[in-house]
Amino acid sequence: MYQKSDYIGVFDSGLGGISVLRHLKKILPEERYLYYGDSANAPYGKRTTQEVIQLTLAAVEKMDVARLKALVIACNTATAAAVGLLRQKYKDLIVVGIEPAIKPALDRFPHGTVGIMATEVTLREEKLDSLLHRIVVDATVCKIPAPGLVELVESGRLDTEEMRQLLRGILQPYADKLDALVLGCTHYPLVADEISRILGKQVLLFDGGEGTARETRRRLELAGLLHEGHGEILWENSSQKEAFLELSQKLLNQR
Ligand code: DGL
Repeated sequence: MYQKSDYIGVFDSGLGGISVLRHLKKILPEERYLYYGDSANAPYGKRTTQEVIQLTLAAVEKMDVARLKALVIACNTATAAAVGLLRQKYKDLIVVGIEPAIKPALDRFPHGTVGIMATEVTLREEKLDSLLHRIVVDATVCKIPAPGLVELVESGRLDTEEMRQLLRGILQPYADKLDALVLGCTHYPLVADEISRILGKQVLLFDGGEGTARETRRRLELAGLLHEGHGEILWENSSQKEAFLELSQKLLNQR
């Protein structure tokens, strides 16, 4: 029997957090997940920080934390803007955020050129600069915004010519320059294959999903809260459109 507070809540502004849920499911297959996407309000990435904070707090309230034993903020934008406030507000809950995987990328290429592709909010928030300042390397770091990309993913236009054109426009200027690209928004790993095709296999892609899943497991283990039994996923979305449920399941199962 499941206890009332036995879910791991996974939150994103929309469908991007599914790229994190894939890692969670892989390393914690027996857990019960509640995935909440705020697709009605996505994208968060070009809003003001204050708006992102308000939307994140409201969405987490809708998830009903009484049902949760842990909350994974599977959104770099919401983590950058609101993870501190969430930890203050929900002191008894395990709250795990996601950060762009800059450290592993710079550890691998300390003298190289590393791109960080992320939303406008993530790129301008203090959290990113303090992360960069903590890592002392003489690598060149390029911040790469990707306007329009989240919208295409949210509307299911992943494997389309429109997507390829948009990605080419964003990434081709960097094609011969980068050693690595950090996918600093959870929507981007959902089109990682297309990104690799444009940049070439020699450019390594890094994303924070796996590290976030491992950190979630570590925190649950430490608290003695790991669950053994049948895993399941409960899908909730602020958009009432049926298509989101279908697309969510498709994205989760896609290789
Ligand atoms: N998936 C989110 C992230 O990781 C942001 C997408 C959005 O702009 O809503 O940053």
